[in-house]
Amino acid sequence: MVHSVQTLILGAGAAGLMCAAHAGPDVLVVDHAKAPAEKIRISGGGRCNFTNMYTEPENFLSENIHFAKSALSRYTQWDFLDLVTKHGIPHHEKTLGQLFCDRSAKDIIAMLLAEMGPAKLWLQTEIAEVSHRDGAFHVTLTREGKRHAVVARNLVLATGGKSIPKMGATGLAYRLAAQFGHRVTETRPALVPLTFEGAAKAHFAALSGTSVPARVACNGTSFDEGMLFTHRGLSGPSILQISSYWTEGDTLSLHLLPETDLYETLRAQRTQAGGKALTTILADHLPKKLVQHLAEAWGLSGNLADQSDTALRALTERLSAWHVTPTSSEGYRTAEVTLGGIATEGLSSRTMESQHVSGLYVIGEAADVTGWLGGYNFQWAWSSGVAAGRAI
Ligand code: FDA
Repeated sequence: MVHSVQTLILGAGAAGLMCAAHAGPDVLVVDHAKAPAEKIRISGGGRCNFTNMYTEPENFLSENIHFAKSALSRYTQWDFLDLVTKHGIPHHEKTLGQLFCDRSAKDIIAMLLAEMGPAKLWLQTEIAEVSHRDGAFHVTLTREGKRHAVVARNLVLATGGKSIPKMGATGLAYRLAAQFGHRVTETRPALVPLTFEGAAKAHFAALSGTSVPARVACNGTSFDEGMLFTHRGLSGPSILQISSYWTEGDTLSLHLLPETDLYETLRAQRTQAGGKALTTILADHLPKKLVQHLAEAWGLSGNLADQSDTALRALTERLSAWHVTPTSSEGYRTAEVTLGGIATEGLSSRTMESQHVSGLYVIGEAADVTGWLGGYNFQWAWSSGVAAGRAI
């Protein structure tokens, strides 16, 4: 069977559905999954952190840090928020400008499907072959055991990155882009827990489930958010954030309780409660399990009154510059996103169209644009999807 369409979108995720909503009437979206936008469904603990009120180009990583500016400025977080409001989807700010659905992430999927209007959606469809000749794309698909040939003037690569293969991530967009002469940058799992070996792993495993506010720094970047000890290492928002800036061999600097002047606080407590054990006082500020661990690892003992200013200074400096070296990350199995992707030099930042093949577009996570944790990655999917859709 041969089908002719104006635009074929590969991938019914966040970017693909958003693009379909803007790409005109003669659009076919295909995906091998059973349901569209599975990552939206599970995102934000089922409530989808759909954008961030403070979105700026600075919140994105890319070989070309300027690339995302155009699309982000022409379809902003406020545009997406207007759409959410127009559809009557109740939402709230959780923290740091992160906007979540009150009810369910399914509200966002339903909204996108409604916005797609007459565009067709084929699920459980395998993409077998893609070629380009005589100004058109020829794509062979398999659906319900039948082969379908689709001829399209425009082809949009929206199949995302490599994160969470169990959810259908395949890296197909990278292979297709390379086939059309695009360079693909080195890719790495990002927004991912970090893992440790040896003594550090054993120590962190003993603290598993404990969380603490921390400023985590690496390679000149730092994030102040919660940090969580796990059976295999460290996680929590501050660690997920810094994982995008970390590579094997790099050391992280952990500043526990970055908002508290612990030295002055402990000095003040020494005058009122000097008879109490140092560890008891520390447990007023840090989780008890962590204090017990540090007491053993760092040999903390005695009452607070026994601690000189120098000793308190040394202790608090240690808590503000605790150096740890992860061995690896949990990998694509749990990474929220893929860092890197289809190199931006081959794409128009205004339309996301290929500079090599007219009518070929790359949107969403497949491109080398990766957002911070906090709704930025969906905003990139919306902005890049709209940029391509409007250009088509
Ligand atoms: P996306 O991955 O959404 O869609 C790609 C589509 O292509 C999928 O439907 C897939 O099935 C399909 N596909 C892939 N290979 C194919 C093939 N070979 N053939 C056919 N179809 C194929 N971001 C954020 O801003 N806020 C948040 O709250 C979260 N939360 C979150 C939680 C978890 C657990 C994860 C894994 C990720 C997030 N993210 C997030 C990141 C966010 O989900 C991600 O950045 C976007 O979904 C990317 O949108 P895309 O449309 O580019 O890819």
